[in-house]
Amino acid sequence: METYTVIPEELKLAVLERIKPTAVEREKLLAIQKELVSQVEAAAERLGIPDVLVKMVGSAARGTWLSGTHDIDVFISFPEETARTELETLGMAIAREVAKHAEHAEDRHAEHPYLNIIYKGFDVDLVPCFRVASASRIKSAVDRTPFHNDFVKPRVKGREDEVLLLKQFMRGGGVYGSELKTQGFSGYLTELLIIHYGFFENTVRAACSWKPGQKIDIMRHAEIEHIEPLVMVDPTDPRRNVAAALSLDKFCMFIDHCREFLKSPELSFFFPATSLPLKDREILASLEARKSTQLAIVFKTPDVVEDVLYPQLYKMEQAAAALLKEYDFTVIKTGIWSGKSETAVLLELISGTLPNVKKHVGPPVWVKTHAEKFKEKYQEAADGVFGGYIENGKYVFEIRRKYPTAKGLLEDRLMTCSLGKSVCQSVSEGFEIIEDAGICRLKDTDFRVFLRGWM
Ligand code: UTP
Ligand code: MN
Repeated sequence: METYTVIPEELKLAVLERIKPTAVEREKLLAIQKELVSQVEAAAERLGIPDVLVKMVGSAARGTWLSGTHDIDVFISFPEETARTELETLGMAIAREVAKHAEHAEDRHAEHPYLNIIYKGFDVDLVPCFRVASASRIKSAVDRTPFHNDFVKPRVKGREDEVLLLKQFMRGGGVYGSELKTQGFSGYLTELLIIHYGFFENTVRAACSWKPGQKIDIMRHAEIEHIEPLVMVDPTDPRRNVAAALSLDKFCMFIDHCREFLKSPELSFFFPATSLPLKDREILASLEARKSTQLAIVFKTPDVVEDVLYPQLYKMEQAAAALLKEYDFTVIKTGIWSGKSETAVLLELISGTLPNVKKHVGPPVWVKTHAEKFKEKYQEAADGVFGGYIENGKYVFEIRRKYPTAKGLLEDRLMTCSLGKSVCQSVSEGFEIIEDAGICRLKDTDFRVFLRGWM
Protein backbone atom coordinates (compact mmCIF):
# COMPACT_ATOMS: atom_id res chain seq x y z
CA MET A 1 0.00 0.00 0.00
CA GLU A 2 1.19 3.49 -0.76
CA THR A 3 2.04 5.68 2.20
CA TYR A 4 -0.12 8.76 2.47
CA THR A 5 1.47 11.92 3.78
CA VAL A 6 -0.66 14.99 4.31
CA ILE A 7 0.95 18.26 3.39
CA PRO A 8 1.45 20.07 6.71
CA GLU A 9 -0.68 23.16 7.18
CA GLU A 10 2.35 25.05 8.55
CA LEU A 11 4.23 24.43 5.33
CA LYS A 12 1.47 25.93 3.23
CA LEU A 13 1.23 28.90 5.57
CA ALA A 14 4.99 29.43 5.42
CA VAL A 15 4.83 29.46 1.61
CA LEU A 16 1.82 31.76 1.51
CA GLU A 17 3.49 34.15 3.89
CA ARG A 18 6.14 34.73 1.22
CA ILE A 19 3.97 34.80 -1.91
CA LYS A 20 0.55 36.10 -0.92
CA PRO A 21 0.06 39.78 -1.66
CA THR A 22 -0.50 41.79 1.51
CA ALA A 23 -3.59 43.94 2.03
CA VAL A 24 -1.45 46.99 1.26
CA GLU A 25 -0.16 45.45 -1.97
CA ARG A 26 -3.69 44.46 -2.99
CA GLU A 27 -5.08 47.93 -2.39
CA LYS A 28 -2.25 49.53 -4.29
CA LEU A 29 -2.81 47.22 -7.26
CA LEU A 30 -6.55 47.81 -7.17
CA ALA A 31 -6.03 51.57 -7.13
CA ILE A 32 -3.64 51.39 -10.08
CA GLN A 33 -6.10 49.23 -12.01
CA LYS A 34 -8.89 51.75 -11.41
CA GLU A 35 -6.60 54.55 -12.50
CA LEU A 36 -5.75 52.71 -15.70
CA VAL A 37 -9.40 52.07 -16.52
CA SER A 38 -10.23 55.77 -16.25
CA GLN A 39 -7.06 56.66 -18.17
CA VAL A 40 -8.14 54.44 -21.07
CA GLU A 41 -11.71 55.73 -20.98
CA ALA A 42 -10.53 59.32 -20.91
CA ALA A 43 -8.11 58.68 -23.78
CA ALA A 44 -10.87 57.15 -25.91
CA GLU A 45 -13.10 60.11 -25.19
CA ARG A 46 -10.37 62.67 -25.97
CA LEU A 47 -9.69 60.93 -29.29
CA GLY A 48 -13.42 60.69 -30.02
CA ILE A 49 -13.43 56.89 -30.28
CA PRO A 50 -16.83 55.48 -29.28
CA ASP A 51 -17.88 51.98 -28.22
CA VAL A 52 -14.69 51.12 -26.40
CA LEU A 53 -14.82 48.97 -23.26
CA VAL A 54 -11.99 48.47 -20.82
CA LYS A 55 -11.48 45.21 -19.01
CA MET A 56 -8.97 44.05 -16.45
CA VAL A 57 -7.88 40.46 -17.04
CA GLY A 58 -5.07 38.12 -16.00
CA SER A 59 -3.98 37.18 -12.50
CA ALA A 60 -4.10 40.77 -11.23
CA ALA A 61 -7.84 40.89 -11.95
CA ARG A 62 -8.46 37.51 -10.30
CA GLY A 63 -6.45 37.89 -7.13
CA THR A 64 -4.09 35.12 -8.18
CA TRP A 65 -0.86 37.02 -8.73
CA LEU A 66 2.27 36.19 -6.81
CA SER A 67 3.41 38.91 -4.48
CA GLY A 68 6.18 41.00 -5.97
CA THR A 69 5.18 40.35 -9.58
CA HIS A 70 3.78 43.51 -11.06
CA ASP A 71 2.01 42.70 -14.26
CA ILE A 72 -1.38 44.10 -15.14
CA ASP A 73 -3.27 43.12 -18.26
CA VAL A 74 -5.66 45.76 -19.61
CA PHE A 75 -7.84 44.80 -22.53
CA ILE A 76 -9.36 47.50 -24.71
CA SER A 77 -12.22 45.95 -26.64
CA PHE A 78 -13.84 47.13 -29.86
CA PRO A 79 -17.12 45.97 -31.44
CA GLU A 80 -16.86 42.67 -33.30
CA GLU A 81 -17.51 44.23 -36.72
CA THR A 82 -14.55 46.64 -36.40
CA ALA A 83 -12.02 46.14 -39.19
CA ARG A 84 -8.69 44.67 -38.09
CA THR A 85 -6.68 47.66 -39.33
CA GLU A 86 -9.03 50.02 -37.53
CA LEU A 87 -8.74 48.03 -34.32
CA GLU A 88 -4.98 48.24 -34.56
CA THR A 89 -4.74 51.97 -35.31
CA LEU A 90 -7.44 53.09 -32.87
CA GLY A 91 -6.39 50.65 -30.17
CA MET A 92 -2.77 51.72 -30.38
CA ALA A 93 -3.79 55.40 -30.49
CA ILE A 94 -5.62 54.97 -27.18
CA ALA A 95 -2.73 53.01 -25.71
CA ARG A 96 -0.21 55.68 -26.74
CA GLU A 97 -2.38 58.35 -25.21
CA VAL A 98 -2.33 56.45 -21.90
CA ALA A 99 1.41 55.94 -22.28
CA LYS A 100 1.92 59.71 -22.03
CA HIS A 101 1.52 59.20 -18.28
CA ALA A 102 3.88 56.23 -18.17
CA GLU A 103 7.56 55.98 -17.29
CA HIS A 104 8.29 53.84 -20.31
CA ALA A 105 6.49 52.45 -23.36
CA GLU A 106 7.39 49.74 -25.83
CA ASP A 107 5.58 48.39 -28.89
CA ARG A 108 5.08 44.65 -28.79
CA HIS A 109 3.55 42.22 -31.17
CA ALA A 110 1.50 39.08 -30.68
CA GLU A 111 -1.06 38.29 -33.37
CA HIS A 112 -1.56 42.05 -33.55
CA PRO A 113 0.27 44.96 -31.96
CA TYR A 114 -0.12 46.01 -28.33
CA LEU A 115 1.66 48.38 -26.01
CA ASN A 116 3.68 47.46 -22.95
CA ILE A 117 4.17 50.31 -20.50
CA ILE A 118 5.72 50.80 -17.11
CA TYR A 119 3.14 52.75 -15.13
CA LYS A 120 4.02 53.75 -11.56
CA GLY A 121 6.32 50.77 -11.35
CA PHE A 122 3.80 48.27 -12.75
CA ASP A 123 4.36 46.31 -15.94
CA VAL A 124 1.18 46.97 -17.89
CA ASP A 125 0.05 45.46 -21.19
CA LEU A 126 -2.50 47.54 -23.08
CA VAL A 127 -4.04 45.09 -25.52
CA PRO A 128 -6.66 45.97 -28.16
CA CYS A 129 -9.11 43.15 -28.86
CA PHE A 130 -12.45 42.34 -30.51
CA ARG A 131 -15.58 42.05 -28.40
CA VAL A 132 -16.86 38.79 -29.89
CA ALA A 133 -20.01 36.96 -28.77
CA SER A 134 -18.20 33.83 -27.61
CA ALA A 135 -14.66 32.51 -27.34
CA SER A 136 -15.29 30.07 -30.18
CA ARG A 137 -15.88 33.05 -32.49
CA ILE A 138 -12.63 34.87 -31.81
CA LYS A 139 -10.99 36.89 -34.57
CA SER A 140 -7.61 37.02 -32.84
CA ALA A 141 -6.05 34.80 -30.15
CA VAL A 142 -6.17 37.55 -27.51
CA ASP A 143 -9.97 37.78 -27.85
CA ARG A 144 -10.22 34.63 -25.72
CA THR A 145 -8.64 36.24 -22.69
CA PRO A 146 -11.72 38.19 -21.46
CA PHE A 147 -13.69 34.93 -21.60
CA HIS A 148 -11.04 33.19 -19.53
CA ASN A 149 -11.47 35.90 -16.98
CA ASP A 150 -15.27 35.51 -16.85
CA PHE A 151 -14.91 31.76 -16.40
CA VAL A 152 -12.13 31.73 -13.84
CA LYS A 153 -12.95 34.66 -11.62
CA PRO A 154 -16.18 33.41 -9.98
CA ARG A 155 -14.93 29.80 -9.77
CA VAL A 156 -11.56 30.57 -8.27
CA LYS A 157 -13.05 32.84 -5.64
CA GLY A 158 -12.13 31.56 -2.21
CA ARG A 159 -9.43 29.30 -3.68
CA GLU A 160 -6.88 31.97 -4.56
CA ASP A 161 -4.42 30.56 -2.02
CA GLU A 162 -4.56 27.17 -3.70
CA VAL A 163 -3.69 28.79 -7.03
CA LEU A 164 -0.82 30.71 -5.47
CA LEU A 165 0.59 27.56 -3.89
CA LEU A 166 0.42 25.70 -7.19
CA LYS A 167 1.98 28.55 -9.17
CA GLN A 168 4.88 28.85 -6.72
CA PHE A 169 5.30 25.07 -6.58
CA MET A 170 5.55 25.03 -10.37
CA ARG A 171 8.01 27.89 -10.28
CA GLY A 172 10.10 25.93 -7.80
CA GLY A 173 10.06 22.99 -10.20
CA GLY A 174 11.07 25.17 -13.14
CA VAL A 175 7.86 24.44 -15.05
CA TYR A 176 5.85 27.65 -14.64
CA GLY A 177 5.37 29.89 -17.65
CA SER A 178 3.97 29.15 -21.08
CA GLU A 179 6.40 31.31 -23.04
CA LEU A 180 8.20 29.53 -25.85
CA LYS A 181 11.39 29.61 -23.80
CA THR A 182 9.90 27.65 -20.89
CA GLN A 183 7.16 25.57 -22.56
CA GLY A 184 5.60 25.05 -19.16
CA PHE A 185 2.27 25.72 -17.42
CA SER A 186 0.49 29.06 -17.95
CA GLY A 187 -1.26 30.96 -15.18
CA TYR A 188 -4.66 30.18 -16.71
CA LEU A 189 -3.83 26.47 -16.86
CA THR A 190 -2.85 26.50 -13.19
CA GLU A 191 -6.17 28.12 -12.28
CA LEU A 192 -8.09 25.54 -14.29
CA LEU A 193 -6.24 22.74 -12.50
CA ILE A 194 -7.37 24.15 -9.17
CA ILE A 195 -10.93 24.56 -10.45
CA HIS A 196 -10.89 20.93 -11.57
CA TYR A 197 -9.11 19.28 -8.64
CA GLY A 198 -10.30 21.71 -5.96
CA PHE A 199 -7.09 22.05 -4.00
CA PHE A 200 -3.33 22.31 -4.41
CA GLU A 201 -2.85 19.02 -2.59
CA ASN A 202 -5.36 17.14 -4.77
CA THR A 203 -3.71 18.48 -7.90
CA VAL A 204 -0.28 17.33 -6.75
CA ARG A 205 -1.63 13.89 -5.84
CA ALA A 206 -3.45 13.46 -9.13
CA ALA A 207 -0.44 14.58 -11.18
CA CYS A 208 1.66 11.77 -9.68
CA SER A 209 -0.29 9.33 -11.86
CA TRP A 210 -0.60 11.43 -15.01
CA LYS A 211 0.47 9.88 -18.31
CA PRO A 212 0.93 11.62 -21.64
CA GLY A 213 -2.53 12.14 -23.12
CA GLN A 214 -4.03 13.04 -19.74
CA LYS A 215 -7.25 14.84 -20.56
CA ILE A 216 -9.29 17.23 -18.44
CA ASP A 217 -12.52 18.58 -19.84
CA ILE A 218 -14.22 20.64 -17.15
CA MET A 219 -17.25 21.52 -19.30
CA ARG A 220 -17.36 18.09 -21.00
CA HIS A 221 -17.59 19.77 -24.36
CA ALA A 222 -14.41 18.82 -26.27
CA GLU A 223 -14.92 19.01 -30.01
CA ILE A 224 -11.63 17.68 -31.34
CA GLU A 225 -9.00 15.14 -30.34
CA HIS A 226 -5.62 16.47 -29.27
CA ILE A 227 -2.44 14.45 -28.99
CA GLU A 228 -0.46 16.67 -26.62
CA PRO A 229 1.01 15.44 -23.26
CA LEU A 230 -1.70 17.26 -21.32
CA VAL A 231 -5.04 18.20 -22.79
CA MET A 232 -6.93 20.82 -20.80
CA VAL A 233 -9.94 21.56 -22.96
CA ASP A 234 -10.57 25.29 -22.76
CA PRO A 235 -13.87 25.74 -20.89
CA THR A 236 -14.51 28.80 -23.06
CA ASP A 237 -13.59 27.21 -26.39
CA PRO A 238 -14.23 23.48 -27.01
CA ARG A 239 -11.68 23.32 -29.81
CA ARG A 240 -8.70 24.61 -27.92
CA ASN A 241 -6.15 22.92 -25.66
CA VAL A 242 -5.04 25.35 -22.94
CA ALA A 243 -1.93 23.20 -22.36
CA ALA A 244 -0.88 23.19 -26.03
CA ALA A 245 2.41 24.95 -25.20
CA LEU A 246 3.43 22.40 -22.54
CA SER A 247 6.32 20.22 -23.67
CA LEU A 248 6.58 16.53 -22.81
CA ASP A 249 9.65 17.16 -20.66
CA LYS A 250 8.06 19.97 -18.64
CA PHE A 251 4.97 17.77 -18.19
CA CYS A 252 7.18 14.97 -16.84
CA MET A 253 9.29 17.33 -14.72
CA PHE A 254 6.07 18.40 -13.01
CA ILE A 255 5.03 14.78 -12.36
CA ASP A 256 8.47 14.09 -10.89
CA HIS A 257 8.34 17.27 -8.77
CA CYS A 258 4.95 16.18 -7.35
CA ARG A 259 6.14 12.66 -6.49
CA GLU A 260 9.30 13.85 -4.78
CA PHE A 261 7.38 16.52 -2.88
CA LEU A 262 4.88 14.02 -1.48
CA LYS A 263 7.76 11.83 -0.27
CA SER A 264 9.05 14.72 1.85
CA PRO A 265 7.00 17.92 1.69
CA GLU A 266 9.48 20.73 2.25
CA LEU A 267 9.83 24.44 1.57
CA SER A 268 12.64 23.81 -0.91
CA PHE A 269 10.13 22.50 -3.48
CA PHE A 270 8.70 26.01 -3.61
CA PHE A 271 11.92 27.93 -3.10
CA PRO A 272 14.88 25.89 -4.36
CA ALA A 273 18.32 26.96 -3.23
CA THR A 274 19.98 29.02 -5.95
CA SER A 275 22.97 27.15 -7.30
CA LEU A 276 26.38 28.78 -7.39
CA PRO A 277 28.29 29.62 -10.56
CA LEU A 278 30.85 26.98 -11.54
CA LYS A 279 34.45 28.09 -10.98
CA ASP A 280 37.21 27.53 -13.56
CA ARG A 281 38.81 24.79 -11.51
CA GLU A 282 35.46 23.04 -11.09
CA ILE A 283 34.97 23.11 -14.86
CA LEU A 284 38.43 21.57 -15.35
CA ALA A 285 37.77 18.91 -12.70
CA SER A 286 34.45 18.00 -14.29
CA LEU A 287 36.00 17.76 -17.77
CA GLU A 288 38.69 15.49 -16.35
CA ALA A 289 36.15 13.28 -14.61
CA ARG A 290 33.74 12.99 -17.55
CA LYS A 291 36.33 12.45 -20.31
CA SER A 292 33.83 13.46 -22.99
CA THR A 293 34.18 16.40 -25.36
CA GLN A 294 32.35 19.63 -24.60
CA LEU A 295 31.71 21.98 -27.49
CA ALA A 296 30.06 25.38 -27.47
CA ILE A 297 28.97 27.34 -30.52
CA VAL A 298 29.14 30.94 -29.37
CA PHE A 299 27.68 33.95 -31.17
CA LYS A 300 26.20 37.36 -30.50
CA THR A 301 22.69 37.20 -29.02
CA PRO A 302 20.20 38.32 -31.68
CA ASP A 303 18.29 41.43 -30.68
CA VAL A 304 14.76 39.95 -30.75
CA VAL A 305 12.19 39.05 -28.07
CA GLU A 306 12.50 35.67 -26.33
CA ASP A 307 9.38 34.25 -27.99
CA VAL A 308 11.10 34.76 -31.34
CA LEU A 309 14.60 33.84 -30.21
CA TYR A 310 14.05 30.58 -28.32
CA PRO A 311 12.27 28.57 -31.01
CA GLN A 312 15.17 29.45 -33.30
CA LEU A 313 17.71 28.38 -30.68
CA TYR A 314 15.94 25.05 -30.11
CA LYS A 315 15.93 24.54 -33.84
CA MET A 316 19.65 25.31 -34.09
CA GLU A 317 20.39 22.89 -31.24
CA GLN A 318 18.63 20.12 -33.19
CA ALA A 319 20.29 21.07 -36.47
CA ALA A 320 23.81 21.10 -35.01
CA ALA A 321 23.28 17.70 -33.38
CA ALA A 322 21.93 16.27 -36.64
CA LEU A 323 24.96 17.58 -38.56
CA LEU A 324 27.35 15.95 -36.08
CA LYS A 325 25.48 12.63 -36.26
CA GLU A 326 25.51 12.72 -40.04
CA TYR A 327 29.32 12.83 -39.88
CA ASP A 328 29.58 9.94 -37.38
CA PHE A 329 29.99 11.90 -34.13
CA THR A 330 27.99 10.61 -31.17
CA VAL A 331 26.10 13.31 -29.29
CA ILE A 332 25.45 12.69 -25.59
CA LYS A 333 23.34 15.76 -24.99
CA THR A 334 22.60 19.26 -26.23
CA GLY A 335 21.61 22.49 -24.51
CA ILE A 336 21.29 26.21 -25.00
CA TRP A 337 22.09 29.22 -22.94
CA SER A 338 21.39 32.79 -23.93
CA GLY A 339 22.61 35.89 -22.14
CA LYS A 340 22.41 39.60 -22.85
CA SER A 341 25.42 39.73 -25.15
CA GLU A 342 26.37 36.14 -26.00
CA THR A 343 24.50 32.95 -26.78
CA ALA A 344 25.91 29.42 -26.65
CA VAL A 345 24.66 26.14 -28.08
CA LEU A 346 26.27 23.37 -26.05
CA LEU A 347 27.02 19.90 -27.31
CA GLU A 348 28.55 17.08 -25.31
CA LEU A 349 30.05 14.34 -27.48
CA ILE A 350 31.43 10.89 -26.75
CA SER A 351 34.49 12.21 -28.56
CA GLY A 352 35.28 15.33 -30.54
CA THR A 353 37.75 13.46 -32.75
CA LEU A 354 37.36 10.46 -35.01
CA PRO A 355 40.05 8.44 -36.80
CA ASN A 356 41.14 9.55 -40.27
CA VAL A 357 39.93 6.27 -41.67
CA LYS A 358 36.26 5.88 -42.48
CA LYS A 359 34.65 2.63 -43.50
CA HIS A 360 32.64 3.05 -46.65
CA VAL A 361 30.39 0.08 -47.53
CA GLY A 362 29.41 -0.34 -51.18
CA PRO A 363 27.01 -2.55 -53.12
CA PRO A 364 27.09 -6.39 -53.15
CA VAL A 365 29.62 -7.77 -55.61
CA TRP A 366 26.92 -9.59 -57.61
CA VAL A 367 25.09 -6.38 -58.48
CA LYS A 368 27.47 -6.19 -61.39
CA THR A 369 27.31 -2.68 -62.92
CA HIS A 370 26.87 -0.85 -59.61
CA ALA A 371 29.61 -2.84 -57.92
CA GLU A 372 32.08 -2.34 -60.74
CA LYS A 373 31.47 1.41 -60.83
CA PHE A 374 31.95 1.62 -57.06
CA LYS A 375 35.17 -0.33 -57.11
CA GLU A 376 36.56 1.69 -60.02
CA LYS A 377 35.76 5.01 -58.37
CA TYR A 378 37.59 4.22 -55.14
CA GLN A 379 40.49 2.35 -56.71
CA GLU A 380 41.35 5.43 -58.75
CA ALA A 381 41.14 7.93 -55.89
CA ALA A 382 44.48 6.63 -54.61
CA ASP A 383 45.50 9.29 -52.02
CA GLY A 384 42.04 9.39 -50.37
CA VAL A 385 41.85 5.61 -49.95
CA PHE A 386 43.66 3.38 -47.46
CA GLY A 387 42.52 0.07 -48.89
CA GLY A 388 39.63 -2.12 -49.97
CA TYR A 389 38.23 -5.58 -49.36
CA ILE A 390 35.07 -7.67 -49.54
CA GLU A 391 32.97 -8.18 -46.43
CA ASN A 392 29.63 -10.00 -46.26
CA GLY A 393 29.53 -10.00 -50.03
CA LYS A 394 29.95 -6.24 -50.31
CA TYR A 395 32.84 -4.08 -51.49
CA VAL A 396 34.25 -2.03 -48.64
CA PHE A 397 36.72 0.81 -49.00
CA GLU A 398 38.59 2.45 -46.19
CA ILE A 399 38.58 6.08 -47.17
CA ARG A 400 39.93 9.27 -45.64
CA ARG A 401 37.38 10.99 -43.40
CA LYS A 402 36.56 14.53 -44.48
CA TYR A 403 36.00 15.87 -40.95
CA PRO A 404 38.03 14.06 -38.27
CA THR A 405 37.21 16.78 -35.70
CA ALA A 406 33.78 17.99 -34.62
CA LYS A 407 35.13 21.51 -34.30
CA GLY A 408 36.33 21.51 -37.89
CA LEU A 409 33.04 20.12 -39.10
CA LEU A 410 31.02 22.82 -37.33
CA GLU A 411 33.34 25.60 -38.48
CA ASP A 412 33.00 24.45 -42.06
CA ARG A 413 29.39 23.40 -42.29
CA LEU A 414 27.33 25.08 -39.56
CA MET A 415 26.12 27.69 -42.02
CA THR A 416 24.66 24.95 -44.25
CA CYS A 417 22.24 24.00 -41.44
CA SER A 418 18.75 25.36 -41.69
CA LEU A 419 18.69 28.17 -39.14
CA GLY A 420 15.98 30.63 -38.14
CA LYS A 421 16.14 34.15 -39.55
CA SER A 422 17.59 36.09 -36.59
CA VAL A 423 19.96 33.31 -35.51
CA CYS A 424 21.18 32.86 -39.09
CA GLN A 425 21.81 36.61 -39.35
CA SER A 426 23.83 36.66 -36.13
CA VAL A 427 25.77 33.45 -36.82
CA SER A 428 26.71 34.64 -40.30
CA GLU A 429 28.22 37.78 -38.77
CA GLY A 430 30.56 35.51 -36.84
CA PHE A 431 30.67 32.57 -34.47
CA GLU A 432 33.27 30.69 -32.52
CA ILE A 433 33.53 27.01 -31.61
CA ILE A 434 35.11 26.57 -28.22
CA GLU A 435 36.09 23.21 -26.85
CA ASP A 436 36.58 21.71 -23.37
CA ALA A 437 38.76 24.00 -21.20
CA GLY A 438 38.11 26.78 -23.73
CA ILE A 439 34.67 27.08 -22.13
CA CYS A 440 36.36 28.85 -19.22
CA ARG A 441 36.48 31.89 -21.50
CA LEU A 442 32.75 32.44 -20.89
CA LYS A 443 32.66 34.29 -17.58
CA ASP A 444 28.99 35.31 -17.38
CA THR A 445 27.72 34.37 -13.91
CA ASP A 446 24.40 33.15 -15.23
CA PHE A 447 26.20 30.95 -17.75
CA ARG A 448 28.33 29.49 -14.96
CA VAL A 449 25.16 28.68 -12.97
CA PHE A 450 23.78 26.99 -16.09
CA LEU A 451 27.04 25.01 -16.41
CA ARG A 452 26.59 23.60 -12.92
CA GLY A 453 23.39 21.93 -14.06
CA TRP A 454 25.05 20.90 -17.33
CA MET A 455 28.13 19.13 -16.02
P1 UTP B 1 -0.40 36.17 -18.31
O1 UTP B 1 0.69 35.51 -19.04
O2 UTP B 1 -0.12 37.51 -17.70
O3 UTP B 1 -0.90 35.11 -17.21
O4 UTP B 1 -1.62 36.26 -19.32
P2 UTP B 1 -1.66 35.31 -15.85
O5 UTP B 1 -2.86 34.42 -15.85
O6 UTP B 1 -1.92 36.75 -15.58
O7 UTP B 1 -0.65 34.68 -14.80
P3 UTP B 1 0.64 35.34 -14.08
O8 UTP B 1 0.31 35.31 -12.62
O9 UTP B 1 0.80 36.74 -14.62
O10 UTP B 1 1.77 34.44 -14.40
C1 UTP B 1 -2.82 36.99 -19.10
C2 UTP B 1 -3.99 36.22 -19.67
O11 UTP B 1 -3.80 35.95 -21.05
C3 UTP B 1 -4.28 34.65 -21.39
C4 UTP B 1 -4.90 34.09 -20.13
O12 UTP B 1 -6.29 34.35 -20.12
C5 UTP B 1 -4.19 34.84 -19.05
O13 UTP B 1 -4.88 34.86 -17.84
N1 UTP B 1 -3.19 33.75 -21.83
C6 UTP B 1 -1.89 34.07 -21.60
C7 UTP B 1 -3.47 32.56 -22.46
O14 UTP B 1 -4.62 32.22 -22.70
N2 UTP B 1 -2.44 31.73 -22.82
C8 UTP B 1 -1.16 32.04 -22.58
O15 UTP B 1 -0.27 31.24 -22.94
C9 UTP B 1 -0.87 33.24 -21.95
MN1 MN C 1 -0.49 38.32 -15.78
